[in-house]
Amino acid sequence: MKVLLIGGGGREHALAWKILKSPRVEKLCCAPGNDGIAALTECVPIKAMDIEGIVSYAKGESFDMVVVAPDDPLGAGLVDALQDAGVRAFGPNKAAAAIESSKVFSKNLMKKYNIPTAAYEVFDSSDEALDYLSKISYPVAVKADGLALGKGVVLAQNYVEATRAVRDMMSDKVFGSAGDRIVVEEFLTGPEVSILAFTDGKTLVPMVSSQDHKRALDNDKGLNTGGMGTFSPSRLYTEELNDYCTRHIFMPTVEAMNKEGRKFKGILYFGLMLTADGPKVLEYNARFGDPETQVVLPHLKTDIIDIFDAIIDERLDEVKIEWENKAAVCVILASGGYPQKYRTGYEITGISEAEKDPSVMVFHAGTKLDSGKYYTAGGRVLGVTAVADSIDNARKTAYAAVDKISFEGKHFRTDIGIKK
Ligand code: AMP
Ligand code: GLY
Repeated sequence: MKVLLIGGGGREHALAWKILKSPRVEKLCCAPGNDGIAALTECVPIKAMDIEGIVSYAKGESFDMVVVAPDDPLGAGLVDALQDAGVRAFGPNKAAAAIESSKVFSKNLMKKYNIPTAAYEVFDSSDEALDYLSKISYPVAVKADGLALGKGVVLAQNYVEATRAVRDMMSDKVFGSAGDRIVVEEFLTGPEVSILAFTDGKTLVPMVSSQDHKRALDNDKGLNTGGMGTFSPSRLYTEELNDYCTRHIFMPTVEAMNKEGRKFKGILYFGLMLTADGPKVLEYNARFGDPETQVVLPHLKTDIIDIFDAIIDERLDEVKIEWENKAAVCVILASGGYPQKYRTGYEITGISEAEKDPSVMVFHAGTKLDSGKYYTAGGRVLGVTAVADSIDNARKTAYAAVDKISFEGKHFRTDIGIKK
């Protein structure tokens, strides 16, 4: 069959690698893809948010399935547009993707259906928000309602920081209309675990657990980023915890979405915080996480196209999903300065040396190929992933590979895979 994958980051590189392992796939095309993905398979220069362009290309080229990976096109209704045009599409529709694209929607959903999460208030006027901030204790989390590239959350330590966040979001519109409404949330503490799950709106199958590292610097210091590295599985996420989350968080979420008339079919991502009062939902995503996907998919034994097919047809209960009993670590190599200003266009050397080890995979997030050489082309540049029998061994292998890769300003965390 012919598959079209939408997106162009490290997550899509990992997805492309996994989709190509399916014996059912004769042709995989990625829009827009990136120059790492282009080394595996064909990429077409259609942007992920060019809904009309993607629909007409998918129809014209008779793709059998379109897999939509990123949040923006899901939130904008690409799956609906494809289905309306008679194209088989994998991913939640726009109504279901609201679980990620609107924090206000997701918080109200959790409240209504008693799904454990931080206490919160919603504001659509900055005056009311500022008044509220003068009455509460700190720290708090201030969140823009809409999609903001993972940067719409400010953990404010005090009144001054919180009011600055509200002004940035609501008055100065640094995230555009995403900041028209905001959520002010109780500050929670505890380790964070990411659970990605396959669901067809009836059955939900959690994938192996993983942990992300959102801050730019070692020991969770520095600014929030799109993710500086991951490992899988989490050492904290036990069978017992999985049973608890399935009963109190995962299935209640699937059922809540059904009751709201927003059946969720696709990948449902639970960002959990393991607090002293039990696990609570920090955020939902309507898609595979990045860079969680890079450490989760290497464990998946089952043909991913069989799973996607079953989800589209709502027969996920018929598929036996199997995992390797392995561990994986992904270290992100970023441009110096990320997540703030950084320069691009520096030559990258050593990728093929790093990949000589068969347990290493280098997923490209932001690179450009020119005359046979790769150059940096984004904030997150590469995700160096290693698979081994334990996290400690995967960590050693990943960092040995990281040492072989060079570019000017190369920035990475040295502590991925250490924390409990
Ligand atoms: P989010 O995009 O909602 O996952 O938030 C980004 C990061 O901010 C999370 O991964 C947490 O580390 C942190 N965070 C979000 N909400 C809270 C909260 N209520 N309390 C403490 N930390 C939070
Ligand atoms: N790694 C977090 C996310 O994909 O949103």
